[in-house]
Amino acid sequence: MSSILGTYARKNISFTKGKGSYLYAENGDKYLDFVQGIATNILGHCHEHLIEAIQKQSKKLWHISNAFIIPEQERLAKRLTDNTFADFACFQNSGTEATEASIKIARKYFHKIGKPEKNRIITFKGAFHGRTLAALFAANNPKHTEGFGPKVDGFDQVPFADHEAVKKAINKNTAAIMIETIMGEGGIKVVPDFCIKGLRDICDEHGILLILDEVQCAYRTGNFFAFEKSGIAPDIVPIAKGIGGGFPLGACLVTKKVSVGMTPGTHGSTFGGNPLACAVGNAVLDIIFKEGFLEDVKKKGKYFDEGLNKIKNKYPKIIGEIRGIGLIKGLKVLVDNVEFIKKLMNHKMLTVKAEENVIRLFPPLIVQEKELDEAIGKIEKVCEELS
Ligand SMILES: Cc1ncc(COP(=O)(O)O)c(C=O)c1O
Repeated sequence: MSSILGTYARKNISFTKGKGSYLYAENGDKYLDFVQGIATNILGHCHEHLIEAIQKQSKKLWHISNAFIIPEQERLAKRLTDNTFADFACFQNSGTEATEASIKIARKYFHKIGKPEKNRIITFKGAFHGRTLAALFAANNPKHTEGFGPKVDGFDQVPFADHEAVKKAINKNTAAIMIETIMGEGGIKVVPDFCIKGLRDICDEHGILLILDEVQCAYRTGNFFAFEKSGIAPDIVPIAKGIGGGFPLGACLVTKKVSVGMTPGTHGSTFGGNPLACAVGNAVLDIIFKEGFLEDVKKKGKYFDEGLNKIKNKYPKIIGEIRGIGLIKGLKVLVDNVEFIKKLMNHKMLTVKAEENVIRLFPPLIVQEKELDEAIGKIEKVCEELS
């Protein structure tokens, strides 16, 4: 019996090594890994540049308190802010901490400008923002909140894609709207550009903040952030997962205007942004910022889309919809998604489920076309088996 608390329904398999798009099981079997730690190993397993960065940093300095200046953290913050809407980055260890920090920053902003009554956040049904208590009750998914009451107050939930409901929910206590640019756990539901723009307009009209949770989708769509296509600028953006390439790292990005309440002592994290984590975060950016890298992600995303759509057209009773942008994809299947995932695993391909009977596909951004072909071939085989 395992001594680990049983909070995961783990598959009965473990892996001894990984390289790029592949994982190797204890018995030597090779798996095409499109889980990648759930959208986390953004450059695949054991990327040479990340190995080099972590080895180099591990010989210099692992951890030091945020009471001191951390040059690797300064550099990462500068690169993240020079290249985005944000003026400041606040480092965390995970996505849920990044969303928590976002909630805190939004509330503190209004407190600082003399409107402390503005402390409620509008969120959306089907959202996922993490597992800390506030993040849980922000998403308010009964599957996750049951038994964890009392409810953390401060969130007003509205149906997804219902701007009228958003407008109705806004009152004198509203501080912000928080939404994932692409709903990940909810089923790779892309919020269309016109909706993002519409939410920005609503926020501007009411003098409230827009928080775009990009924990799962940042760097993956072929733009640095998924929201960039819409042309708007948010106020606060939590990120994590891919930004550390598999090393625990999260951050909350924020504009100067909205950061005013966050003075010394208002927030902290022992590990958040330590030298080791930031060295890896910087190494990830070295690759992401390479000329043409994100353009290439767009091309690969399109290539993958074409292949997936061919299968969808051939098996319309099995695959209902292809969702996602770039290299964050969802297959909405018309058969049981868990059964489909099991069959893919029999064909040595790893994927992960989401709500709405969706199968999530997270190829690493360094995936090769022949590996996308391999994935398409395996998905097609499963469709054949289920026909
Ligand atoms: C959009 C979003 N926000 C927050 C989180 C929480 O991240 P973490 O599991 O790193 O705490 C996740 C995790 O899946 C996520 O997808």
